Amino acid sequence: MTLDAPREVGTDRSSAQVYDYGAHVWSWSLDGVPVLWTSAKSVFETGVALRGGVPICWPWFGPGRSGELAPAHGLARIKEWTLDGRVDRANAEVLTYVLGPDAAPGALPGENWRVTYQVSVGDDLELALTVENRGVTSFSYEVALHTYLRVGDVRQVAIAGLDGASYLDKVTGRHEVQAGDVTIVAETDRVYSRGGEVVVTDPVLGRGLRVATEGAANTIVWNPWAAKAAAMPDFGDDEWPGMLCIEAGNVLDHAVTLEPGDSQTLRYGLAVEAS
Ligand code: BG6
Repeated sequence: MTLDAPREVGTDRSSAQVYDYGAHVWSWSLDGVPVLWTSAKSVFETGVALRGGVPICWPWFGPGRSGELAPAHGLARIKEWTLDGRVDRANAEVLTYVLGPDAAPGALPGENWRVTYQVSVGDDLELALTVENRGVTSFSYEVALHTYLRVGDVRQVAIAGLDGASYLDKVTGRHEVQAGDVTIVAETDRVYSRGGEVVVTDPVLGRGLRVATEGAANTIVWNPWAAKAAAMPDFGDDEWPGMLCIEAGNVLDHAVTLEPGDSQTLRYGLAVEAS
């Protein structure tokens, strides 16, 4: 089934489109300039993940820790979320979405969990995903906000903030330590064991993108490069130089375990700076 149109959200300076499907922030523009990347080949059908914007990966990342789970990146991005609030705050419009076992049965063992997602659209884009354990037994999950950033040419950007961080290189399967800024010179798929702040300097678009995360043990950096992009039906063959995923999450060894009554919040803030 084709998706309903996204919600149009924003302020005088900023505008975003958000689908209830996946609680998916599809676009965010500041002063009319797009900040997020979206593929022209994305599919807008239920049961399929959108390609671009900010997919929510939950309750597992990729194929999960076992390497065997499907669908890729979990159920949250292909389920219909419920809009629970829409308010104007000072210089921002804020949407609150919820997801529970009624909409995503079997996502976790037990039926006593709730995910709340707050999307604040203003001069910054601020995202906060909270998972609550409302039951009587603990559970574990992986989570990531899989943000696709629009860049002028990924081969020319510098990614600061990960110097000295250890990472799993998912292309080679090796564990490495980052030396200096990250640059993209080939297919890149890395899970860094560090959250916090990352700045992407983009000389082609003449801007910096500042990513500030909280509650994230991992930063994931992904660009498929030419061959992998060509193999994906929902990704244009020549689109890969224009995108860079800087994702915040808690994945693999950093999966979250929640005891009954506990909750965890993952925050992702995105700001644009002149460079
Ligand atoms: C990244 C993963 O987060 O997402 C990659 O690290 C994966 O391994 C990419 O290829 C895209 O995943 P998907 O399921 O949206 O095609």
